[in-house]
Amino acid sequence: MAVQTEKGDNYEIKDITLKEDGLKTMEWAASRMPVLQIIKNRFIKEKPLKGVRIGACLHVTKETSQLCEAWLAGGAEVYLCASNPLSTQDEITAALVSKGVNVYAWKFMDSEGYYRSIGNVIKARPHITIDDGADVVSIMHKLKRGETDEQVEIIKKVIGESTDYIDSVWAGAEETTTGIIRLQAMSDDGALLHPIMATNSSPCKNMFDNVYGTGQSSIDGILRATADLIASKVFVVAGYGHCGKGVATRAKGMGARRVIVTEIEPHAALQATMDGMEVMPMTEAAKIADIIITATGCKDVIRKEHFEVMKDQCNIGNAGHFNIEINIPDLEELSTGKTQIRPFVEQYTMKDVRKINLLGEGRLINLAAAEGHPSEIMDLSFALQALASEYAVKHKKELSEMGGKVVQIPKEIDDNVAILKCEAMGITLDTLTPEQEKYLSSWRVGT
Ligand code: NAI
Repeated sequence: MAVQTEKGDNYEIKDITLKEDGLKTMEWAASRMPVLQIIKNRFIKEKPLKGVRIGACLHVTKETSQLCEAWLAGGAEVYLCASNPLSTQDEITAALVSKGVNVYAWKFMDSEGYYRSIGNVIKARPHITIDDGADVVSIMHKLKRGETDEQVEIIKKVIGESTDYIDSVWAGAEETTTGIIRLQAMSDDGALLHPIMATNSSPCKNMFDNVYGTGQSSIDGILRATADLIASKVFVVAGYGHCGKGVATRAKGMGARRVIVTEIEPHAALQATMDGMEVMPMTEAAKIADIIITATGCKDVIRKEHFEVMKDQCNIGNAGHFNIEINIPDLEELSTGKTQIRPFVEQYTMKDVRKINLLGEGRLINLAAAEGHPSEIMDLSFALQALASEYAVKHKKELSEMGGKVVQIPKEIDDNVAILKCEAMGITLDTLTPEQEKYLSSWRVGT
């Protein structure tokens, strides 16, 4: 059943009276995101985003509220919709509306509401888009190509018949691995019409957010959903990239009896082995698993042949971007029905009476059942996003000359974020002596 929402001139959210709770939660996040506060304070003075319209499709959480505040401080108009139907914190949407952000998001939105909200962001004709999974950018391109489908039809009810919304965009930024893969494929095909800054590819994002953020918050999501013990369990992680590494190492730290990794890539498989994980195919791992979490960005990682051999009461969840890593239609087909046992746990009864527990509808477990990455981690990712927006304004001409390319955020910006975070955490770096600098920069010195 569709959630009842409240609509105003600049919002569609769950409940505007949740504002006070949201403001308190925003304060909590602010005190844990010092780098973003430094950027915000500079933006208040310099107003680098004056007159700029930012259209963001992100997880609408307390951390995102801090990014929105930085954009507002810089003088931007901000339009925000959700990048996932389950991850929105409703009290934050109410607080953000009170701060002047245009917000279209609520938890448990259905597909119609999801695309209507994206339509509201597109309708604002943003100059800069910020995506988490490339939804806004993909749909703007689809409109321009004159393609139509169910999603476009929903959006057209909001924006009308114009197809030229993408013409207002100077540049975009993309937050996650899956989005970058999609956008790079568009660029390779010559289908991307404007530059995209690959926030996810910056060290300050993927070394911390994907690893430590996804690692801790996925375990948090599993625990909140199931309240099960991890110690003594057989814990399987599909994919040993940035996210999988974080989940597997934290599962080990929580005392899992065996942590098993499934991989398709030899280096990742070797690294998992040398990190002390077992590596085997999913067909073998599924037979012994108590918990399986996917973090691959690939589809059908858990499918029919795996459901057929799973143990009774196996918990399965996903930490990758889309809800395609677990083949839910296969699970439906093999089962006689499902029961909502607890929030975020649907229990499927298989035809042979085994029960399999699907967590968070197969969507990002850390955002569906928990609160996403801790604020301290998002401080890094969103500091990059705030500075990427400023960069897009300052370098509008250069970026537009690049055309449809996926580009890195400049190293100086990433280094600056890392330095500010070290300072905020009281980490003092060593410095090179002049002799050392000379040694490292010259091929004539040494050996
Ligand atoms: P990555 O590219 O570093 O790692 C993915 C790994 O999965 C690779 O080692 C690859 O070889 C492996 N893989 C691919 N297909 C596989 C299959 N069928 N079976 C087994 N292994 C397979 O990517 P990263 O950064 O770890 O991201 C993974 C996913 O998580 C993406 O969808 C990304 O968007 C998402 N993500 C989720 C976050 C969250 O909050 N839950 C945060 C950041 C990223």
